[in-house]
Amino acid sequence: MTGQTELKWWQRGVVYQIYPRSFKDTTGNGVGDLQGIIEKLDYLEHLGIDAIWLSPFYPSPMADFGYDVADYCDVEPLFGDLATFDRLAAAVHARGMKIIVDWVPNHTSDQHKWFIESRSSRDNPKRDWYIWRDPKPDGSLPNNWGSFFGGPAWTFDPQTGQYYMHQFVKEQPELNWRNPEVKAAMLDTLRFWMRRGVDGFRMDVIGLILKDAALRDNPINPHAPANLPENDLFSRLIQVYNMDQDEVHEVVREIRATLDEFPERCGIGELWGPLDRWVKYYGEHGEGLHLPFNFRLMDGMGFNRMTWDAQALRGVVDALEAALPDFAWPNYVLGNHDRMRMVTRFGGEAQARVAAMLLLTLRGTPTLYYGDEIGIPDVPVPPEKIQDPQGVNLGAERSRDVCRTPMQWDASPNAGFCPPDAEPWLPLTADYTARNVAVMSQDATSILTLYHQLLAMRQETPALLGGSYKPLDEGVPTDCYVYLREDGATRYLVALNFAAEARQVRLPELGRGQIMLSTHLDR
Ligand code: NOJ
Repeated sequence: MTGQTELKWWQRGVVYQIYPRSFKDTTGNGVGDLQGIIEKLDYLEHLGIDAIWLSPFYPSPMADFGYDVADYCDVEPLFGDLATFDRLAAAVHARGMKIIVDWVPNHTSDQHKWFIESRSSRDNPKRDWYIWRDPKPDGSLPNNWGSFFGGPAWTFDPQTGQYYMHQFVKEQPELNWRNPEVKAAMLDTLRFWMRRGVDGFRMDVIGLILKDAALRDNPINPHAPANLPENDLFSRLIQVYNMDQDEVHEVVREIRATLDEFPERCGIGELWGPLDRWVKYYGEHGEGLHLPFNFRLMDGMGFNRMTWDAQALRGVVDALEAALPDFAWPNYVLGNHDRMRMVTRFGGEAQARVAAMLLLTLRGTPTLYYGDEIGIPDVPVPPEKIQDPQGVNLGAERSRDVCRTPMQWDASPNAGFCPPDAEPWLPLTADYTARNVAVMSQDATSILTLYHQLLAMRQETPALLGGSYKPLDEGVPTDCYVYLREDGATRYLVALNFAAEARQVRLPELGRGQIMLSTHLDR
């Protein structure tokens, strides 16, 4: 058990993910910006957030809404400029909060100057910065890998007669991390942002940066769903040679060593995969990432596949607790810009409240996704308005636009996200005049008030921050999940009811207690 005094900021803190396009627009173009984030820091501070993580705000042609980076060391003009970023970082720090930025090491934009050089000729000094291969002798693709976003992971470049690799859209060519110059250049981009005060990085698809040296074909997945879109080559394969290669851990250690050149920086990695593969990203002795993102409360053992069931969730938490070495700090995520919104996943707000209590009372760092605190659901986007490349290529039901809709601040037209005469880049919820921060913060029983109170309670309760975790069985109905968080003399019991009706939990041996908070704020 770790006493709270020894906890680092990224262990005590609650991280709040901001999708900059969707948070607050101050220029009237219907797209959020960095100045908008500055203007909403008071809200986040009041809510009880310790650290913000910004999805990419770098110059980008937006083929994948910023995850196609054209320059790692600048700000996309849509979002502001470096001076605005500096003001944002200073304003965050002035509030005692931390700022985490997204870092996209696996691929650049095809408009990045490195790729423009690389593709210009076979003997360009930057040719080997990306992954180029000849067609097979019969003219076919270099291997059978598919792109996450549909189609093959290779695009042929007629000018030089080779294919380049991209496991996302073709505008996202993959860097060759086996080339020491690439590694050095990318590690320097970390230093660039740390010198500007950045406290941590969320590292995009970090498990993908090294591929099998021979780029062997991935095995066919015999359990692939039968109804996959024809171009979904990715889901037809088992992802063996394109991710989580042993060599990646050597590079992760170098990334960590770079973070350690500056005090108290934090590395968070976007990762999936089985527990035994995932846990390796902490490093053998803690020399890897501080927080390999843990998506298991959302995903279970697949993507978006977790069943919202007391026993299943408990199983996931217990397995995680058992898999973590002593030095490894847990973390939990229940929503992000790639997944179904919490309220939609759980079929309504009642269970989203249970989920909030789970997320904020488990042992480990929670990451919240903007808008979940006001219960924004997946918002339908008409098929002709779909913008996400995953939705455009693989069908409307795979579009991530639905979970990226604007934050709703008040009851005015456009919910205070953008000026009334502007058009938000994605639609608002139909009930935005009621579902917004201004209205819900005045309501003593709203889900927003629940988040606020949970965050406050967590912040001042050592048992919740650093205390031990112990699930209870006796007297607990199977559709409930009950656990103790304990630190010295204080014991917090968390009793979560996943049933639609009331349930009774009998725990006579625990003696008397006091109800601190209930999900409906009525007890
Ligand atoms: C994971 C990010 O979360 C997702 O939004 C993005 O499309 C891919 N990586 C590619 O960068």
